[in-house]
Amino acid sequence: MKTESNNQRGAWGSRLAFILAASGSAVGLGNIWKFPYIVGENGGGAFVLVYLVCVLVIGAPIMLAEFTLGRKTNLNPVGAFDQIKPKSPWIGIGFMGVLAGFLILSFYGVVGGWTFAYVVKSITGSVLAFSSPKEAGEFFGSFIANTGEVLFYHALFMGACVGIVIRGVHGGIEKACNILMPMLAAILFLLMIRSLTLDGAMEGVAFYLRPDFGKINTNVVLIALGQAFFSLSLGMGAMITYGSYLSDKEDLTSCTLYVVMFDTLIALLVGMVIFPAVFAMGLEPAEGPGLVFSVLPTVFAGMPLGQGVAIIFFILLAIAAITSGISLLEVVVAYFIDQRGWERKRAVPVISLIIFALGVPSGLSFGMMADVKLFGMNFFDNVDNIASNYLLPIGGLLTAIFVSWVWGTKNIHLEIEKHDNKPNFFWARSWEFLIRYITPIAIGIVFITKVFR
Ligand code: TRP
Repeated sequence: MKTESNNQRGAWGSRLAFILAASGSAVGLGNIWKFPYIVGENGGGAFVLVYLVCVLVIGAPIMLAEFTLGRKTNLNPVGAFDQIKPKSPWIGIGFMGVLAGFLILSFYGVVGGWTFAYVVKSITGSVLAFSSPKEAGEFFGSFIANTGEVLFYHALFMGACVGIVIRGVHGGIEKACNILMPMLAAILFLLMIRSLTLDGAMEGVAFYLRPDFGKINTNVVLIALGQAFFSLSLGMGAMITYGSYLSDKEDLTSCTLYVVMFDTLIALLVGMVIFPAVFAMGLEPAEGPGLVFSVLPTVFAGMPLGQGVAIIFFILLAIAAITSGISLLEVVVAYFIDQRGWERKRAVPVISLIIFALGVPSGLSFGMMADVKLFGMNFFDNVDNIASNYLLPIGGLLTAIFVSWVWGTKNIHLEIEKHDNKPNFFWARSWEFLIRYITPIAIGIVFITKVFR
């Protein structure tokens, strides 16, 4: 019976396909746009170390838990919790996840649109016309305030997601990631070589790698943990959904380690592209969110082969955004297919249209609707705040509790150890300890501090 439903739902063609797709979900704007600027703002190397600890101690166990839930049930997040504890309130975690998918994609699609626009604008050369980050920042500011342009590229980005997800897991998502992920790695590698061979690049490397522990405080730890969550696509069932298309014969622990390593490696490499270039051009690393859209164009404008580098950099950014966007869409789509019996062909366009519509006020948040504020924030920031700062951490916390205390680590071991994939004793024991105690306590502390600060 399981095989039958598997066939209708779709399945990954191979283990590698699964790893690439899950890595595609994880590697996104979080790695390329956010990671470098928060490293820049929070003291370089020391932050990187704290981040790595968060990824290993909190991120990896939750990812394994999500993969296991998905593979065990072969269902979307709502169906997964419902199947394991039928008619219990735990199903709420699944609904929160689907809601988070809706909300995150609505503003993620806006930023995805910006990346598309910057590919075009680096081809026409218009982003490269500035010699100071301030001017480039003003150019960026006036672009994101331009209603027509923003909506056009936003629609284009959502259209691309529709085109991929409508073809299904095997024919769409997997095919796209099989091509796009190796491309992304290759582009990143080329960019790193270009960056490291600039005059004065080593200063940037030193900033990036030399830990300044004086900068580490609770707030920095909180930022690192939140980033680990977002970057690894955890807390809303994206990894449950992707795990649900995985065959029983694959080893979940090694898949988890590969995805975690890949995501982390890409984030670290992006730092190796950006900081050497920023320092070589004599600019500031602590530029904040404008780092990628305002500082980098200036850097590209000032370096040899700059336009080519700009084009491939923004293509890289767009690829990363697409492979993450499709994973967000797939969570919502899988819910409507599994739980509501919709056809994929109908679910994908209908849901995408609703998400696009919900994203419109986010897209206008830096222009026409800049003055529409709620809780002192524009629409975009409100949606981001609700999803990233509330739904994801609560989802992650409850998932950890559900998996270790309600479902039980014994059952998890049975699923992980299917087909004799016995993980070694040490790994199994430490994972159990982490997911039972450390993960929930750490997320709990972060969440409480964030909300009540
Ligand atoms: N991980 C992606 C990034 O780094 C974003 C993302 C995709 C995500 N799917 C997710 C974040 C699910 C949280 C949950 O940009």
